[in-house]
Amino acid sequence: MPITLATTVAELRTEGARLLGSGQGTSQGLVPTMGALHEGHAALARAAVEQNDVVVASIFVNPLQFGDAVDLDRYPRTLDADLALLEDQGVDLVFAPPVEEVYPGGEPLVRITSGRLGEKWEGASRPGHFDGALTVVAKLLHYGLPAAGVPAAGLPAAGAAQGGLPAYRAYFGQKDAQQLALVRRMVADLNFPVEIVGVPTVRAVDGLALSSRNRFLSDEEREAALVLSRALRLLEERANAREPLDLDSARALVESQPLVALDYFDVVDPETLEPLAENCRETPFRGEALALIAAKVGPVRLIDNAPLSS
Ligand code: PAF
Repeated sequence: MPITLATTVAELRTEGARLLGSGQGTSQGLVPTMGALHEGHAALARAAVEQNDVVVASIFVNPLQFGDAVDLDRYPRTLDADLALLEDQGVDLVFAPPVEEVYPGGEPLVRITSGRLGEKWEGASRPGHFDGALTVVAKLLHYGLPAAGVPAAGLPAAGAAQGGLPAYRAYFGQKDAQQLALVRRMVADLNFPVEIVGVPTVRAVDGLALSSRNRFLSDEEREAALVLSRALRLLEERANAREPLDLDSARALVESQPLVALDYFDVVDPETLEPLAENCRETPFRGEALALIAAKVGPVRLIDNAPLSS
């Protein structure tokens, strides 16, 4: 079936209800994006299509999560190509609203606060970014609620279909690990009736994590940027071998690349994102962790991460 485009919340709800009703659907997946889609987004869409009867993707460049008007203007808008990519993955419905549809009264007075979890790592260099991202994710999760809707008596618990309501799942990339951790916390702390599914990072053959920002790298910068995934791989190999992670030597590898200005590189608890200092040096690595890295490569800020497990 050809993909349907909705630009208003009313259209999204009508079309979503029609699709769920016509296919006797019992589950609905939502894939929130800002467009400029690549193979990483395609993987989110495919996961959603595999696990749900009806899949909605949103394309909305959210002004609230950009610190700087130049960055917002510069963000690539590629709607036709995005629609083609989503259609190829089997997405049923795309919600691509104008800014006035999402923020009819201008910037909202009340927003989601990302708290301590949103102030560290990416939040430290992009103040307000996660509050803006969580605010729009909250709105998108509400817009995308499956058509059977919310019973008058209140919201069902997260996850699988119950009481005749379709199951509701939303898909986020593990590439944006802090965003994923924050969305999970928001949904748990504020009882949103949705299951959050994290989808593994997609990489180019040479290891570079796919990102809409990679298009701004020169050939030389792209080559230099490979040091990020190499350093993460070093940590993964040590974790798999149950050796001390020796984060200092992995950091030195990144710092030896002149085109790369390291912002942070640390090993953290996957849920709280607090550093796990004891695992980084002499002690053999045990347990579950997340290695987080961010650096500027030429003019482009890149982030990457690797789940560590032993
Ligand atoms: O990850 C993104 O593309 C955005 O932060 C999101 C989740 C679509 C919210 O604008």
